[in-house]
Amino acid sequence: MDEILGGRRMRRNRQSDWSRRMVRETVLTVDDLIWPIFITEGTGVRQPVAAMPGVERLSIDEALKDAVKAEGLSIPVLALFPYTHDALRDAAGSEALNPNNLVCRTCREIKKLGLNIGLMTDVALDPYTSHGHDGLLEGEKILNDETVNQLCRQSLIQVEAGADIIGPSDMMDGRIAAIRATLDRHDLRDTQIMAYTAKYASAFYGPFRDAIGTNATLVGDKRAYQMDCGNTDEALREAELDIDEGADMIMVKPGLPYLDIVYRLKHTLKVPTYAYQVSGEYAMIEAASTNGWIDGDRAMLESLMAFKRAGADGILTYFAPRVAQLLARG
Ligand code: PBG
Repeated sequence: MDEILGGRRMRRNRQSDWSRRMVRETVLTVDDLIWPIFITEGTGVRQPVAAMPGVERLSIDEALKDAVKAEGLSIPVLALFPYTHDALRDAAGSEALNPNNLVCRTCREIKKLGLNIGLMTDVALDPYTSHGHDGLLEGEKILNDETVNQLCRQSLIQVEAGADIIGPSDMMDGRIAAIRATLDRHDLRDTQIMAYTAKYASAFYGPFRDAIGTNATLVGDKRAYQMDCGNTDEALREAELDIDEGADMIMVKPGLPYLDIVYRLKHTLKVPTYAYQVSGEYAMIEAASTNGWIDGDRAMLESLMAFKRAGADGILTYFAPRVAQLLARG
């Protein structure tokens, strides 16, 4: 064998734990995590989301506890997603513009705690529309420009309520430029925008739509605005536009099925690039682990490492508190 290998033995570096750690190229740290949470009305509410074991809808008082927990675990950012009461959903998504809506109230309450964490909010109409779409409809058609107008106003009330980062997840054309201009006009120049840049029309959002209550109501699908899963050049073009329009960070969504997109955007554009490990990805790992088919903790860490390897600067993941706890224990 020595003659054949001529000294080229790759396994030398893999022999021991210390050596494996020494040659590891990529590391996962708590700073890579963004924790998405679901909020709902009430007090003392922790309502399990059926398709996402371990994830709950929280009333504001409970969300405050998780915000404190996030800071304690050194998770840098919390992302808020509201479950809107049916009675408050309408065709125009008007509740999105209510400065006292659930998201805005939660922002204000969390901000009062003065924690060392960032607060991110989602800019899109789907939690508020009776038809479950991210934009305004005329018949079956999405009205791009009218929607953007609405998203600008939604962004404004979220930022005024205390959001540090806003995440437009709607995929309308021109929304980053319009939102940036609106914020500038209101002297809100410091707000960071993380654009949901390459958001694909995906089957992996199913459990999330349960969590925010849009699965039952969604009419049709979102393929007229979210991207087609066959495309990568289009993702690059979307990213160039978002950066040009004033985004500070870009995001790819879903995560694991789209790691090639993460890799390509990060290595081409060299801007802060994030990935969203979405609800369906979380559900798959949880389901297999609950059945004893895979080791859940190891699969979770391995999946997150994959994002880092592909070049992601961070990951939105429902695993955030669990990973942070594991990492803290070493
Ligand atoms: C909608 C939005 C979605 C997610 C985040 N924001 C779903 C959708 O586009 O229908 C999905 C997140 C997840 O699946 O975890 N604006």
